[in-house]
Formats: sequence, C-alpha cells, structure tokens
Amino acid sequence: MEHRLSARASAMDASGIRRVFDLARTLTDPINLSIGQPDFPVPQAMKDAAIEAIRNDQNGYTVTQGIEPLRSRIARYLGDDLGWTIGGETGLLITSGTSGALTLAALALLDPGDEIVIPDPYFVCYPHLGTIAGARAVACDTYPDFALTAERVEGLLTDRTRAVLLNTPANPTGHVATRQQCRDLLDLCASRGVLLISDEIYDAFCYRESRSDTMRTGDVARCPSPARFDGAHEHVLLIRGFGKSYGPTGWRMGYCAGPRPIIEAMARIQQYTFVCAPSIAQHGCVPALDCDISGYIDDYERRRDLVFERMRRVTNLARPGGAFYAFCEIPDHLGLSDQEFCERCIERNVLVIPGSVFSSRTTHFRISFATRRESLERGLGILGELMSV
Ligand SMILES: Cc1ncc(COP(=O)(O)O)c(C=O)c1O
Repeated sequence: MEHRLSARASAMDASGIRRVFDLARTLTDPINLSIGQPDFPVPQAMKDAAIEAIRNDQNGYTVTQGIEPLRSRIARYLGDDLGWTIGGETGLLITSGTSGALTLAALALLDPGDEIVIPDPYFVCYPHLGTIAGARAVACDTYPDFALTAERVEGLLTDRTRAVLLNTPANPTGHVATRQQCRDLLDLCASRGVLLISDEIYDAFCYRESRSDTMRTGDVARCPSPARFDGAHEHVLLIRGFGKSYGPTGWRMGYCAGPRPIIEAMARIQQYTFVCAPSIAQHGCVPALDCDISGYIDDYERRRDLVFERMRRVTNLARPGGAFYAFCEIPDHLGLSDQEFCERCIERNVLVIPGSVFSSRTTHFRISFATRRESLERGLGILGELMSV
C-alpha cells in the first residue's frame, strides 16, 4: 500500500547529493574533499566529561533549556565575546544541533505565506526552513563575492519578510562578512523590524585577515558578528554550535540566544519535539569553551592558503576567509555542468560536491579542506589537471 506523503516531505529532494554519493560508493579509497566536519579529534576534556556523565548516571532527560553548568558557561562566553547579558530580555536555549536551533526558529517565527531571506549559495537546509513552516525562503543572489550585503537584501524585503538569515563564516563559500557588512545588515533589519538570524556555526574558523577588532578593551581580533554591536540583542537571533568547532558533530549540540519571547517560543516547541539536547553531550560540552583549538585553526588556515593558491591558477575563486570550504567556478572551456564535472572528478577518484546542491546555479563545485594535508594535496593536483585541460 502506498501512503501519501505531505507536500512538505515531497518538496525535500536530496537527488543532487545522493547521485554523487551513489557514484562515490563504487570507489575503494577515494580522495574525499566532500566532508563537512573537522578531521581533528574531539578535545580529551570533552570526551572525559561525556564519559563521566554516563558513569554518573546523568543519562536521563534534562530540562528543555539545557543544563545549568553549560548554560552559565555559554552565558559567560557570550558576555566576553559579544557584551551580551543572558537573563532579563535576552534568552538562551541549548538545542539539538545547530540544525535544531534553525528548525525551531523557523517553526517559531514563520507562518504560511511568510518569507525568510536566505543567501544563495546556501547551507542545504536553508531553503527547507521555509518548506517545514509552509513559508517561503527567498534567495538572495550573492555571486560572485558571496557577500550577503544590505544592498542586496533590501530589494527583497516585503511586508511578509519575518527574518533575514546570515551565515558567517559561510558554508559552502567560506565567505566571512566584514564588520561593516554586519553593521549595515543589522541596521537594515532593525529599521524594518525584521529579525536578523546569524548562523555562526563556523565562528571558530575565521582566518587572520578576516578577523576584526571588537572595540572592547583588551580584546583580540575576532570573527565579525552582527551580534557584537550595541543593542544587537534586540534584533539578532544568534545561533552557534559545538560540532564544527570541537569536532563532535554526532553529539548534536548547538545553542541560540536572542530576544526572550522568541527563545521562549522556541523552547516551547523544543519541549514537544526534540524535548532536550542529548544529556551526555550537554555534559561533554561544559569544558568546550575552555579548550584551546587555536593550533587546529592555524593548520586549517594553512590548508585554506594551499587551496586558494592552487585553485586560483585554474579558475575564479573568492578567497575563503573562514569555515573549511572553497566554492570554485567550473572553467567555461570545459563545457561541463556541475554534475558532469563532479562525475569526471569521481572517475579520477576525487569527491567534491556539485554547486547546485547549494545554489540555483550549476556553475560551481565545493571543496572541503577538512581532510589530511597529503590527501588534500593529491586531490588539488588532480583537480588542477582536470580544470586546466
Ligand atoms: C552553515 C551551517 N549551519 C548549520 C549546520 C548544522 O550543524 P549541526 O550539525 O550543528 O546541526 C551546518 C552543518 O553543516 C552548516 O554548515
């Protein structure tokens, strides 16, 4: 018997990426430049804390908003980093992954007919934040430099726009919004009464030239964020996570902070859906913000330099300022669509992802450099040959 699926489920099509992975399964030891998670190990202190939690029988449900030791550590961090005070009019919710926070935000904010502006290229789930809420995700074309600027967004705002979704540093492009771009986008959203959702899951991966002074005494330069301006907590829903920064992507740990009524609505929906973020993972993340990952980030910056230097010889490429991706144009002279190009790569044992998985355009492909340097060098060599013939 065939059961009818919802329009929502039918609208979610995974074909582009599935085709690549189906083909990839035929390879024995591919050079995998498609992976969206760091290749360094989770810090020992985090592993120990998670194991301790299991041993101490902390395996049950937690309160929906998240365990107190983690909440207070994140609150202190947001105070240091952004000058935010959690409590009063600003709320904090620990979520089941960053994806959980994005999903709850869509469900809390959007009604059928409403609109949310997203960048194109986008992280794969962004268009479906509209789908799951019966709303419309309106794509903002950010080619060729991949900046979601106030200028580009302004013309897309309507009286149905409820939110603008910024992702910085970005997947799949590695673009990092400048301090001024953050400021302008915040001002635009604030002046139009639209919430600015800032997905900063890659905030730890912000390379030197993209960091900026925070204007807070004694601070070192950090990844620019629209949340760091005075009064931003009234207009920004900040979403961050632990999976990319510290490696435990499977623990499903994220958090969001912002205007209390929104956070409380999200918490109510979490209560009836995810219930809480995984308990042992919450315990495992308590020491995270005290772990030093700067050595890994420096290493990723060197890999970024390598990818940029090699790929710019054979194609147009905006230098990724953060995350661990490069979004490269497929050279015109090859006459190939993104799917065809990625199939050629697979024939040569290299896995990259077609740009149309992240975009309405079919002109680019994504490299992930979250892979061992030796394998990255071999992969770049093969891509370079393929692209220059
Ligand atoms: C931009 C962006 N946001 C959110 C997510 C989801 O992360 P999580 O694993 O924490 O749900 C990802 C994962 O790739 C991402 O690239």
